[in-house]
Amino acid sequence: MAGNKKPRGTTDEETGLSGNGKVKGATAERLKRLDFHSALRGEVLPLCRLKAGEVWEDPGRGHRVGVLDVTDPKDVSALIGREKAVLIVNDPPYNVAVGGANTANLFKHSLEEYLDFSRKWVANAVDVLADDAHLYIWIGADYRDGLQPLPDFIVLMRDFQELTVRNFITMRNQRGYGTQKNWMWVRQELLYYVKGNPDFNIEAEYTDIPKILRGYYKEVDGERTENMERGKSQYIRAGNVWVDIQQVFYRMEENVPGCYGQKPLKAIERILRSASGEGSLVIDFFAHAGTTLIAGERLNRQVYTCDIDPVFAEITIRRLENFRETGKTGWQWRNPFPELEQE
Ligand SMILES: C[S@@+](CC[C@H](N)C(=O)[O-])C[C@H]1O[C@@H](n2cnc3c(N)ncnc32)[C@H](O)[C@@H]1O
Repeated sequence: MAGNKKPRGTTDEETGLSGNGKVKGATAERLKRLDFHSALRGEVLPLCRLKAGEVWEDPGRGHRVGVLDVTDPKDVSALIGREKAVLIVNDPPYNVAVGGANTANLFKHSLEEYLDFSRKWVANAVDVLADDAHLYIWIGADYRDGLQPLPDFIVLMRDFQELTVRNFITMRNQRGYGTQKNWMWVRQELLYYVKGNPDFNIEAEYTDIPKILRGYYKEVDGERTENMERGKSQYIRAGNVWVDIQQVFYRMEENVPGCYGQKPLKAIERILRSASGEGSLVIDFFAHAGTTLIAGERLNRQVYTCDIDPVFAEITIRRLENFRETGKTGWQWRNPFPELEQE
């Protein structure tokens, strides 16, 4: 920290400990995880411009950010009105107590309560999808608890007759959790449904990983060719196992200190590219670090998003403002609330 500034609610500079207790050195995150540090919420809340039920409208591109409960149809209508979206990307809480913390917004409830919560928000999402539209849902499976809620959620989704399953994607994290006695848990599940028959932009499928395996010889017009010659691209497709996306951590520009469930921008941009065109309306019910909003801003889509927690709605708006001012996609280890750093 420069000069004699003393940060409040921030990493302890003497010990170099971050919110999760790990030593990170000089570039430690300047804001602790808001789910672990409830006192910090009290300091951040007065800095939030929106209260429950309010919606911020972006004077620039018309994006919207609300503090809303997406299980309530009235709240969803306050955000979206009568408009319809070609794409919804939702990352709800996974019903897993992350790092042992059971916070109000990243809760662990009974499975029944979780499915009730899910049924409500999915119904509200279906209502605001256009006739031909895409719905992506990130979801978890807790091996310590019968792998809930993934299978239960998948079964619940069968009740929504308007939706058809299109795919089941797994994104591979580089770091995971686990023990010395188990395979490291590195997977992030992403369910893909469609309503009607929306367009899929195949260009979005290609990674920047060159094809390296030769083989798959086939005769074409009497000539023996191999797959590299026949392929449309020299790069491999992402397919439904995404191995080329770096998990967000505090040394990456896009990192948002304070957040605990941030999705990588590259993953969200891949979804937006594949499932929406420039100028389309994209919705994210669970804004958190505001990743979908930044992806939409960068790719020229309009984004309506919200979070039940005013702190994450504020972070989402600030992330957009910070991006417009600095061109940076996040704060890396710096504080999204510099006001908390007093002289
Ligand atoms: C896993 S995080 C989403 C992470 C996000 N995709 C990102 O990349 O930053 C889930 C978010 O859902 C919010 N949330 C929980 N219940 C909600 C509800 N009923 N309505 C709206 N948001 C809710 C939480 O406050 C939390 O910020």
